[in-house]
Amino acid sequence: MAQVNVELAERSYEIIIDRGLISHLGTLVRRAVPRATRALIITDTNVAAKFGGVAKKSLEDAGLETLKATVPAGEQSKSLAQAYNLYTACVNAQLDRHSVIIALGGGVVGDLAGFVAATYLRGIAFVQVPTTLLAQVDSSIGGKTGVDLPQGKNLVGAFHQPSLVVADLDALSSLPGREVAAGMAEVVKHAIIRDGGFLHLLESETDRILSVDPVVMGPVGENNCRIKAGVVAADERENGLRAILNYGHTVGHAMEVSLGLGNWLHGECVAVGMVAAALISQKLGVLKEPDLLVRTERLLGRLGLPTRLPANLNLAAMEALMYRDKKAEAGRINWVLPVRAGEVAISGNVPNAIVLQALESLRR
Ligand SMILES: NC(=O)c1ccc[n+]([C@@H]2O[C@H](COP(=O)([O-])OP(=O)(O)OC[C@H]3O[C@@H](n4cnc5c(N)ncnc54)[C@H](O)[C@@H]3O)[C@@H](O)[C@H]2O)c1
Repeated sequence: MAQVNVELAERSYEIIIDRGLISHLGTLVRRAVPRATRALIITDTNVAAKFGGVAKKSLEDAGLETLKATVPAGEQSKSLAQAYNLYTACVNAQLDRHSVIIALGGGVVGDLAGFVAATYLRGIAFVQVPTTLLAQVDSSIGGKTGVDLPQGKNLVGAFHQPSLVVADLDALSSLPGREVAAGMAEVVKHAIIRDGGFLHLLESETDRILSVDPVVMGPVGENNCRIKAGVVAADERENGLRAILNYGHTVGHAMEVSLGLGNWLHGECVAVGMVAAALISQKLGVLKEPDLLVRTERLLGRLGLPTRLPANLNLAAMEALMYRDKKAEAGRINWVLPVRAGEVAISGNVPNAIVLQALESLRR
């Protein structure tokens, strides 16, 4: 079993990574939230069928009165309408200030259930039980919760740290390969921004990662979570260092919106975004390790991720979207640019012409 701590003073919590953890969920929740007597599992239709029963039984066996609320699988459930339904479920389950919400599912469930936990009774405890790779390596850690509006993703939300993250490696065995690859994009991102040695591990173990072998996914998850936990601990509310987690996301977000949300997975867009940022970095002379661009493309390609923009993408529209991104400040984009494996720099002065040249050369 691996354990990583997210050090945030009184909001500190553990990330536990191992096989078979969902069947021990009750004991783990009891330890992390000792005053809870009631629990509400929030999950989606796909995950409920696979893990809902085991999770509920384990919580009940540990003495927690447990109810379950299920939302339809998919991004459209990350809405204020579903949050409203879940507040009603919280009332019906008679949750009080000491109760706990269990977010059992992928990033959609984690963000939505976390938002409900952040706001119900002005905030109650919640435990993340991520079941997709993306959720295990990224979205369950760091306390960003929220819902989408028709006008855009994640426009309403709150920082609310979980009391515990329980990453059961066995859950990954039922994930479609495309979802595994999309989750790995964020792992590669973490390696490039913070840990060159971890990037080597990913390069040497790509085949076992692709077969989601728990023997390698354990150390991959642990290394990955250590990096994300360290960045979050240094800058909980994204006033500084946490911005480096946006590596690949400037181009990635704009692509996601240009292509129509849901057509390409987020991680697929981030993969292309990382290649674009590395190319921009090379053109600017910021990249000091010339083969990092090729290594990034090779690793992402082996993981089954795209590294090129679709030929029909409208670059002018992409550019406009990048400036409208909520992370752009006063019309200035803060680019996260790789310097060498494990190190990035942030620049707010990247000329448009360089960006357009890079994007043009990445069109298939
Ligand atoms: N809070 C954050 O810091 C953060 C970071 C990154 C992404 N996100 C958010 O995460 C969301 C995407 O998360 P996601 O990629 O996990 O999507 P998701 O939650 O929609 O899950 C993808 C699909 O996999 C299914 N699924 C879940 N677990 C499964 C399993 N073990 N086996 C088989 N199928 C399973 C789900 O039902 C769903 O159909 C987005 O809304 C994004 O904004 C949040």
